[in-house]
This record gives sequence, C-alpha cells and structure tokens, in this order.
Amino acid sequence: MTPVVSQGEEQFQRVFAEAPIGMALFDSEYRFVLVNRALAQMLDTTEEALMGASCESILQPDEAAGQRLLAERLLGREVQGYKVQRRYPSGSRPERFADVTVTRIDTEDGGVLGLEMIEDITEARRAKEQTRVHEAELAHATRLAMLGEMVAGIAHEVNQPLAAIVNYANGSTRRLQSGDVQDMRVIQDALSRIASEAMRASEIVRRLKSLARKESVQRERQPLEEIAERTLRLVESEVQAKDVTIVMDLAREIPPVLVDPIQIEQIVLNLVRNACEAMLEQSDPKRVTIRTFREGDESVAISVADNGPGLSPALLHRVFDAFFTTKRSGLGMGLSISRSIAESHHGRLWAEENAPQGTVFTLALPIFGGNEN
Ligand SMILES: Nc1ncnc2c1ncn2[C@@H]1O[C@H](COP(=O)(O)OP(=O)(O)OP(=O)(O)O)[C@@H](O)[C@H]1O
Ligand SMILES: [Mg+2]
Repeated sequence: MTPVVSQGEEQFQRVFAEAPIGMALFDSEYRFVLVNRALAQMLDTTEEALMGASCESILQPDEAAGQRLLAERLLGREVQGYKVQRRYPSGSRPERFADVTVTRIDTEDGGVLGLEMIEDITEARRAKEQTRVHEAELAHATRLAMLGEMVAGIAHEVNQPLAAIVNYANGSTRRLQSGDVQDMRVIQDALSRIASEAMRASEIVRRLKSLARKESVQRERQPLEEIAERTLRLVESEVQAKDVTIVMDLAREIPPVLVDPIQIEQIVLNLVRNACEAMLEQSDPKRVTIRTFREGDESVAISVADNGPGLSPALLHRVFDAFFTTKRSGLGMGLSISRSIAESHHGRLWAEENAPQGTVFTLALPIFGGNEN
C-alpha cells in the first residue's frame, strides 16, 4: 500500500533522504521510524537494518542509558530539544564522533517524535588532535633546544673561572718547583686570585639556583667605570701574559646604571677575552681600549675595542648567534649569552668596525633613574 503523502511531506522526505548529514526520526518508544543514507553509511550498516531498531542499540553501551534519559525528557515534553556529543560504533571501523542536535516534533494527531541531526566530526577531531600532537612535539623540540643552549651557557660561564684557577695554580706550582720563591707575594697574589675566581664560580652556580627557583635577580645602582675597573683587575694578569696592553678611557661624571654587577662584568670579560683571542697571532702591538661614555639622552655605554683582524660586515651580526665560533676550542656562546644579559637589562650590545683596524663591541645600558639624573 502506497501511503498518500502531501507535496510538503514528499519534499521533506527527499531532503531527509538526501541530506549530507545523518538524520533520524524516532518515536515515543525511542525506536527509529525513519533514517537516511548518510547515517547508515556513518554506522557502516544499511537503512533497512536500522528501521525499527531501538535507538540505544546503535550507541556505545556506556552512553546508551544517559541518552535514553535525555530522550525520555523530550518525549515527555519536558524539553524542546538538546545538543550532545556521541561516540558511535561503526562496524569494523574505528568509532565515529558526532555532534547531535535533537528536536521535538509534536505531530498533528497529538503524538511526539524526535528528530536527530547527526554530524560526523571524526575527521575534524582527528585533524585537531594531529595539530595538537604536532604542536606539543614542536614545543618539546623548542624546550630541548633551549635546554641545550642553557647547558652550553652554564658550561661557558663556569669554565672561565675554572680555566683561570688552573692557570694561577700551574703558575704557582712552576715557581715553587723552580725555587723561584724570593717574593712570596707573587704566590700569595695567585692564591687570592684563585680564591676570588672560585668565589666567582660559586656565585654563578648560586645565580643559576636562584634562576631555577625563579627568584628575582639583585640589581644594584652602579657607576659603569667601577664595573670596568673591577673587570680590568680580573683580566689583568691574563692579558699581560698575552702581551696585550689595555687602555682605559673612563668618563667620570656619567650617570649610574641599575644592574646585576656580576652579569655586566661577565659581558665585559667576554669582550676583553674575545679581543685578546682575536689578536693572538698578530705581530702589531696588541691593544684593547675600554671606554665608558654617555650614549644619547637615555643611556650610558661601555665599549671594548681592539686592533685585531676585524670582522666582515656579514659577520658583525652573526657573531651573536649561539654556537657561532671560529675557534677550535670555542663554544660560540660568549656573545650570545652577553647579548641575552644585555637585553634582560633593557640594554643593547652590538659590534662595529674599529678605525683604522679591528672591532668595537659596545654595550649600552639605560641610565638609572631616567635622564634627569
Ligand atoms: N673582537 C673580535 N674580533 C674578531 N672576531 C671576533 C671578536 N669577538 C668575537 N669574534 C668572533 O665571534 C665568534 C663568536 O664569539 P663568542 O664569544 O660568541 O664565541 P667564542 O669566543 O668563539 O667561544 P666562547 O663560547 O668560548 O666564548 C668568535 O669565534 C670569533 O670568530
Ligand atoms: Mg668568546
């Protein structure tokens, strides 16, 4: 028997059947009275197999009871509709995820039907999950790279005082062995330098520990020229041994800066050591000039200039990259660390050609208390 259907009903049935998303109509018993092809395909079954079946029978067992309760509230006319997310078993395929909108339909003869619109979001979910996994992998790789840089940075900072300690100790041993001990002050001086370098290493470790604990660093008001003088004392003997003359050109009367003095000394030390290393092979007199001066309205600067081989314009920027080195035993971290320290002080560190020959590195730091100071 062919049921007599109105034109409107026929159109509805066509739309229903052809809809690109899953559609189903259920009755007051929560059984399917109409399903479309999209739903059958999604569940890897046929429309015939679904017709008349209990709606619960196609759900994952752990979701069935909850879904029945929701349907009962709708069928009892307590709600007009609801939206849920569901998982559906799909034959031998992996389960499907769907956004489901359920709407109550009150029929002309006083009955109730439920209309389900079931949108398969499995692919979208999978794509999102893949993006999430990819992002997590990227974040992990970035963390690893940062960790690598940090470890190299720590190695670099701790290595410097250790190398100095070894030098002083070896020098003293040689003097003692050769009986060259007329002047005990030389040995005493070496011992006190060993002690201060060791203090320096332990200060670096202490700072690392506070960094790990995220303690804020101690900033002090300091005149730049004092930092320059302290750094000079640290490198003096090392520099003399390399036949390098240091010229100090310090502007007095310039405003102070607010800094972690150890960190700024670390930058100047790195610059002086690099300058000495750059001039290692040259027969011309080796000269390093440390200058402090006012740099514009808002900052003061300290520069370290050498008369070494200089840097090509392309390298003036690259030398600040982590791991960039031309030295056999270099880590390539000195300038990269120095620049991050400068930036953490809201300062800048850059390199330029020195006239007539060599390179100048300049560290500019904001004046403490602004430019009225
Ligand atoms: N004053 C300078 N003159 C010429 N080249 C320089 C100068 N300072 C640095 N460079 C170049 O920049 C590179 C990077 O310097 P950086 O201090 O970052 O690392 P490094 O000295 O090689 O190793 P380390 O990590 O032990 O300091 C050096 O290898 C050198 O080629
Ligand atoms: Mg270096």
